[in-house]
Amino acid sequence: MSVKEAASRIDKLRDEINLHNQRYYVYDDPQIPDSEYDRLMRELQSLETDFPDLITPESPTQRVGGAPLEGFDSVKHRVPMLSLDNAFDAAEMNEFDRRVHDRLELTDDESIAYVAEPKLDGLAVNLRYEQGRLVLAATRGDGASGEDVTSNVRTISSVPLRLLGTGYPALLEVRGEIFMPKAGFDALNEKARKADEKTFVNPRNAAAGSLRQLDPRITATRPLAFYCYGFGEIDPAPIGETHSDSILRLRQWGLPISQELQVVQGAQGCIDYYEKIAARRDDLEYDIDGVVYKVDRLSRQKSLGFVSRAPRWAIAYKFPAQEALTEVEAIEFQVGRTGAVTPVARLKPVFVGGVTVSNATLHNMDEVERKDVRVGDTVFVRRAGDVIPEVARVLTERRPAATSKVELPANCPVCGSDVVKPEGEAVARCSGGLYCPAQRKEALKHFASRKAMDIEGLGDKLVEQLVEAELVHDPADLFGLTLEQASGLERMAEKSAQNLLAALAKSRRTTLARFLYSLGIREVGEATALGLARHFGNLDAIEAADEEMLQETPDVGPIVASHIVTFFQQLHNREVIDRLRAAGVEWEEGVPEPTHDQPLEGKTIVLTGSLSRPRGEIKAELQVLGAKVTGSVSKKTDYLVAGAEAGSKLAKAEKLGVQVLDETGLDALLAQSD
Ligand code: IVH
Repeated sequence: MSVKEAASRIDKLRDEINLHNQRYYVYDDPQIPDSEYDRLMRELQSLETDFPDLITPESPTQRVGGAPLEGFDSVKHRVPMLSLDNAFDAAEMNEFDRRVHDRLELTDDESIAYVAEPKLDGLAVNLRYEQGRLVLAATRGDGASGEDVTSNVRTISSVPLRLLGTGYPALLEVRGEIFMPKAGFDALNEKARKADEKTFVNPRNAAAGSLRQLDPRITATRPLAFYCYGFGEIDPAPIGETHSDSILRLRQWGLPISQELQVVQGAQGCIDYYEKIAARRDDLEYDIDGVVYKVDRLSRQKSLGFVSRAPRWAIAYKFPAQEALTEVEAIEFQVGRTGAVTPVARLKPVFVGGVTVSNATLHNMDEVERKDVRVGDTVFVRRAGDVIPEVARVLTERRPAATSKVELPANCPVCGSDVVKPEGEAVARCSGGLYCPAQRKEALKHFASRKAMDIEGLGDKLVEQLVEAELVHDPADLFGLTLEQASGLERMAEKSAQNLLAALAKSRRTTLARFLYSLGIREVGEATALGLARHFGNLDAIEAADEEMLQETPDVGPIVASHIVTFFQQLHNREVIDRLRAAGVEWEEGVPEPTHDQPLEGKTIVLTGSLSRPRGEIKAELQVLGAKVTGSVSKKTDYLVAGAEAGSKLAKAEKLGVQVLDETGLDALLAQSD
C-alpha cells in the first residue's frame, strides 16, 4: 500500500470510528456490534504501525500516550469556573424564581423557561477545543485556575478528541462533569477487594482519585464518563440564543450531554422535575446530589449577571445529604435469623439522607477489620436510597487516645452459645439455633412477613413481646394462641387481639411456595421456593429428596441443596411442620412438573415503572421459567415490562428496539409458558 492510499484509508477509518463513538456515547444508540468496532480499531492500529508518520494526536488510537507526569501544571481559566447557589426546599426554589422574575422586571403572568438537568456528583472540568481539536482539559481548582489533566481526560472514551461535523466555533470551551457510573464503581471496588487493595468510599472519590493519577495508563483503566452542561470561552460567539439550543449543538459535534435535560416553565415546573428525578434517583446509572436549573435565554442570563462566585441565573436544588459525620458511641453485635452475628455501630444521632440515623451496619468482622472502626471514632455515615445506613469511612486523624480494636465475642450476646466463624467465611454465627431467642424472633418475623405467610398485624414489636412472654417458641405456637393470651399482652387492646387471631386464621390458607419460603431455610428465597414448589409439586416429595434430586430444580445448586437436606434432617423442624399442618395450615398440592421446563431460558427481562404486584414476586416467577431479570436495559434485553410512569428505561428500550410489554403482555408471557 502506498503512503497516499494508507493516508486515505486511515482518514476514513478515523471518521468512521468517531461517528460510532458518537452513536455510542452521545446517543446511547450503537449502530454496530462491539466486535465490528474493535475490528475498525485494529485495522487503524495496524496501519498506523506500518505508517507511523501518519499518527496524529487526535487519532482514536492515541488516547493513552506518553510517560507518567511529574505533577500537574497549573492552568488559568480564561473565563472563571463559578459555583452554584443552593436551594434545599420548594420554598427556596420559589424564592429563586421570584428573584429572577423581579430582576428581569417581568410581568406576573410571564413565566421563565429553565433548563433542568441532574446535578452529577463528580468533578467539574473545562475542555478547550481549538479548530475542533481537544487541546486542554483542566480541573476547576479554585475557579480561577485549576490543573492541567489533559493526558488523563484524553483516556475517557466519551470525550471526543476531535469534534465532528462542521460549524463549530474556532475556539470552543465546554464545561461538564467527569464522573464514575455506579456499575463501574462497583466493579472497580470488587476488583480492589479481590486484590486486597483499598476500596473507594463513593463514586465521586473514585472519579477524583482516577483523574488525579500521574500515570494516564492507570486513568485509562478506570470507568470514567463525562457530560457537558456549560460553556467557557467561545469565539466566535454565541452558538445559540438559548442555553438549551447551545447544548444541543454540542451533541451534534460529538459531545455527550445529559439524557435527562429538559426545559421546564417557572418554579412549579422546576419543582415537578425535581420530584420526578428524586423518585428515579436510585435507578439512574450515576450518583446525583440534586438538580441544576439555568435560565434558558442567554440574553436573560447576561442581564442577571453574577454575585461573587455564583451566577444569579442558576441554582442547584439539592437532595438531602447522603453522607454525614458523627461519632461511634458503641459497637454491639446483633444476631439474625440464621444466627449471623452482625456488628452494628451505635451512633450519635445524625441527620443523613433525609432521616435521623443512630445505628449503622458494619456488615461483618472482615469489614470491621478493614475499616478499623473503633468506639470513639469519628466516622462518615452513608445512606443511599433505601439501603441500611453504613459506616463508610473512619477519620483516623480524629481518633481519641487509648481506643482498642473490636473483637468478635466468643459467645452469643443473646443466648450465650458459642459463636463460630468457619475458616474463609466472612460471617460469624451463633451456634444456638432455635434455642437462641434472637434467632427465634427473627425466624418468626420472617415467617409472618408479607412475602411469607403474610400474617397481617404480626409485626416486629409483637413478635418480640410474644417471645419474651414465652407464649411463642416456634411458628406452630402462633396458631395455638388464645384470645386471652393475646389480649393479656402489654398495649394490646381486645380488638387488636381479635384482629390478630383473625389474621392468623386467614393466613392458614397459603401456597406451597410461600410456606417453603416462610420456613427460613438458608438461601431459600422466594424464587428458589417457587422453583421447588413447581418442580416437586408437594412437600413430602421435597422432604424426601436427596441433594442430587434437589439440584434438578432450576436455581438450586449444591450449597442450597445441602441446606435444604440439613433443614429437613432436623427432627424439630419436621415436628414444627407437622404441628403447623395439624393447626390447619394448608396449601394446594400438585403433581410434579417435568424437569427443566424453562421456556424463558436465555431471555433477559427488565422490569420498570409501577406494577400491580410486588416486583420480587414477578421476578421470581420469571426466574423460575428460566429468564434472567436484570436492572438495566441494553441491546441484550429481550423484553422490557413497563408499568405506569415508566421513565428512562422505557425510552431506552424504545430507542434500542427492545420489545416492550405491559402487564397484559407479561401475563401472556407467563401463561404461554405454563
Ligand atoms: S452548572 C455557572 N450543571 O456543581 C454554573 N454544574 O456546585 C456552573 N455540577 O462545579 C455549574 N452537575 O461541578 C452545573 N448539570 C450541572 C452540574 C453541575 C454537576 C457541579 C459542577 C459545579 C458544581 C457547582
